[in-house]
Amino acid sequence: MVTYTAEYGPDTIIYLNAKELANMTYIKYFEIVGRVIESNIESISESISRDRDISYEEARMEVIDSIIGHLANNTHEWSSGCQPNIRYEDPLCRIAYLYRIVPVNANLLEFVFEKDAKIEVYLDEVQKENGEVNICVFGGGPGTELLGLAKRTEMRRIEHQIVLNFLLLDQVNEWVESWRAIRKEIDSKFRNNINQNRNGWPLTTSGDSCAIDITNIDNFGNWGAVFGQDIYIFSYIISEVFDDYPQLKNFITKMAAQSPKGAKFLFIDRIEQRWKNVIIDLAENAGIALSEFHDTRSSMGVASPKEEKTDLGQIYVDVLERYPKGYPRLNWNAFWVVGTKE
Ligand SMILES: C[S@@+](CC[C@H](N)C(=O)[O-])C[C@H]1O[C@@H](n2cnc3c(N)ncnc32)[C@H](O)[C@@H]1O
Repeated sequence: MVTYTAEYGPDTIIYLNAKELANMTYIKYFEIVGRVIESNIESISESISRDRDISYEEARMEVIDSIIGHLANNTHEWSSGCQPNIRYEDPLCRIAYLYRIVPVNANLLEFVFEKDAKIEVYLDEVQKENGEVNICVFGGGPGTELLGLAKRTEMRRIEHQIVLNFLLLDQVNEWVESWRAIRKEIDSKFRNNINQNRNGWPLTTSGDSCAIDITNIDNFGNWGAVFGQDIYIFSYIISEVFDDYPQLKNFITKMAAQSPKGAKFLFIDRIEQRWKNVIIDLAENAGIALSEFHDTRSSMGVASPKEEKTDLGQIYVDVLERYPKGYPRLNWNAFWVVGTKE
């Protein structure tokens, strides 16, 4: 049994009532993402300052301006109605994504696991049977799914430990920087607040990343070696690659053929009928039985009132000073559906 008393320092014992305890968590989306961003900005600014012989402050302001440019461009791309052209290979574009989108998408994923017993009960069964859960994440580079599942697991206050092994399929290899940094932040929260020893943590995680284009099936030979996973997550990926839908369909069909009977497929995306239609078609072709679709319109303010966007830290101040529209996103307007391999 883990006792949640030590957040305020090892010498202070604060007894929490049941409600406080239920709301308490060491993992905070904005705080963790803010720390990861700050360390990236510092390192990029230092290197610009050295290379161009300008002050660190000047270099940092250039970096912030460039992040703001990506924030504006990404919003434009997502609302264009065409396949978005987001330059994730640029480190400053990745920072813009972490800042604006990762906290809210992680919260949405947490919400889905909380609300949908089909997927959470399955996760528990697999954990009980195999001592671990293998999760394949399409477009999982940024670490959204890692954060959301880690916080959900922590919030559940279950007595046994969950072991989550992620396989990340993302064509942008460099996302590994932020994925690993997020994982390190989660681990250090548990190390500092619970125990040095992993045995007492609510969950442990590991991740293999695979830099591939999920719309290209040409380069895999032995699909079975990679795709025998328990849960497959597609969070905001169908709406990102829709021009290449026939190829994505081929990829998912080949991959699903290798997955064990009963494996779960979770799709989360923007609330538009065209994405639901695509998923219905994909699932039919791949032998995946879909449950009902669930629409959800909510916000982090309702789902996670303890999350504070100001916990993002200096990036939040710097961006808003120069770009008043540059808030992190807090609302979602999404659907989810769970599929089961037949
Ligand atoms: C909108 S983000 C979604 C990220 C995350 N799943 C979330 O919910 O926040 C799309 C992700 O898919 C990746 N991606 C886009 N096209 C891809 C492709 N053809 N193959 C593999 N990954 C791709 C991007 O690098 C990015 O990490």
